[in-house]
Amino acid sequence: MEINTQERMTMLKYAVKYGTPLYVYDGDLIVRRYKEFYNYINWPKLKILYAMKANYNIGILNLLKANNAYLDTVSPGEVQLALKLGYNREDILYTANNITDEEMFEVKKLGVLFNIGSITRLEKFAKIYPGSEVCLRFNPDVMAGENKHVMTAGDVSKFGILMSEVEEVKEIINKYNVKVVGLHEHTGSGIGETEKVFESMNNLLSIAKKENFPDLKFIDFGGGFKVQYRPESSKIDYETFGKKAARMFSEFCNEYGKELYMYFEPGKYIVAEAGTLLMEVNTLKRNKERVIAGTNSGFNHLIRPLLYNAYHHIENLSNPDGEKKVYDVAGNLCETGDVFAEQRELPEIKEGDILAVKNGGAYCYSMGSIYNLRSMPSEILVEKGVDKLVTKRMSNDELTDSILKLYVGD
Ligand code: LLP
Repeated sequence: MEINTQERMTMLKYAVKYGTPLYVYDGDLIVRRYKEFYNYINWPKLKILYAMKANYNIGILNLLKANNAYLDTVSPGEVQLALKLGYNREDILYTANNITDEEMFEVKKLGVLFNIGSITRLEKFAKIYPGSEVCLRFNPDVMAGENKHVMTAGDVSKFGILMSEVEEVKEIINKYNVKVVGLHEHTGSGIGETEKVFESMNNLLSIAKKENFPDLKFIDFGGGFKVQYRPESSKIDYETFGKKAARMFSEFCNEYGKELYMYFEPGKYIVAEAGTLLMEVNTLKRNKERVIAGTNSGFNHLIRPLLYNAYHHIENLSNPDGEKKVYDVAGNLCETGDVFAEQRELPEIKEGDILAVKNGGAYCYSMGSIYNLRSMPSEILVEKGVDKLVTKRMSNDELTDSILKLYVGD
């Protein structure tokens, strides 16, 4: 995970060429990560749906499309963007929660398959679109994930239909002749214990019976594949995971009497490691015992440390061999919590140094904002050593004009 000298020099070159703050994405790594799943999970009918909420960068979406990727989407905006980029509607699953009727009409018109996670929405959907196909999201009743905010199943989660509600579901689907072609579960994000994933898979498969759902074409086991955020943390053996998952699914399909498709929906695993946020230190100051390295980015660009207490590895690209000192690495927002790392040991930092925040590819830009009226960084995508600007940072003029455009008063 450490950057080697050549990568470091290249990153510094990007910082000069495009300015900072800057998001750099390694396209080759993204494609490698996407394809890895097909090697890990040896199942002939496998579909990997990229969870585009992790990063909707157009360069990344185009690159994945060129590699025949499928998509998991969660809003009409995501569906529309995917369609505008040329994804086929058959290759998109729509897994939104707490949707309005308007949203339902809008997305149904676009022709993508709905993954519905509540009884009342299922009923409303079935009433208006009898005879149509749906996927159903169940709560697999397992709690897992790297933080309580990213555990998406179990007792306190808002997601999915309870497994105990199968009979109610059957009543609705029979009444309106709705065809359940898929079943879905998503346990959480950054799941460290693969046993938890198998537990969820087993729970979902226990209701995926012919007598409950005779029209199944696929089972979708969601995302949540853990990425190494800390250099010292262990790597999960996804080859072993894949073998066991395929074995389990094969046994299930034998029982079900049909070879179904198996879906997974990774987001983090595909893009997290491929992203780096470059930022410049502009202010060094002391607060009693602490040394604060103030940068030209902030939690509006990368909120994970503040929101999830997430660790993001940081390197001082300008002085990699400097004497190790302890810093609070802070942003430029007018908030105390605007800190990327507290009491972090880093090679000596001077004003003007470029820092690299690692694992910035997933849920970083996509969760960004213009809080404090500071623009989002530019984003570049690097493929086979060639760097390309994908989105540009708004100038302050463009930023303020974009806000004034929304103004409807007077
Ligand atoms: N499928 C569904 C239905 C999901 O809700 C999610 C993520 C995924 C797939 C992809 O999960 P992944 O493979 O990326 O873990 N912002 C948080 C993560 C939120 C994940 C929400 N759902 C973070 O930065 O850790």
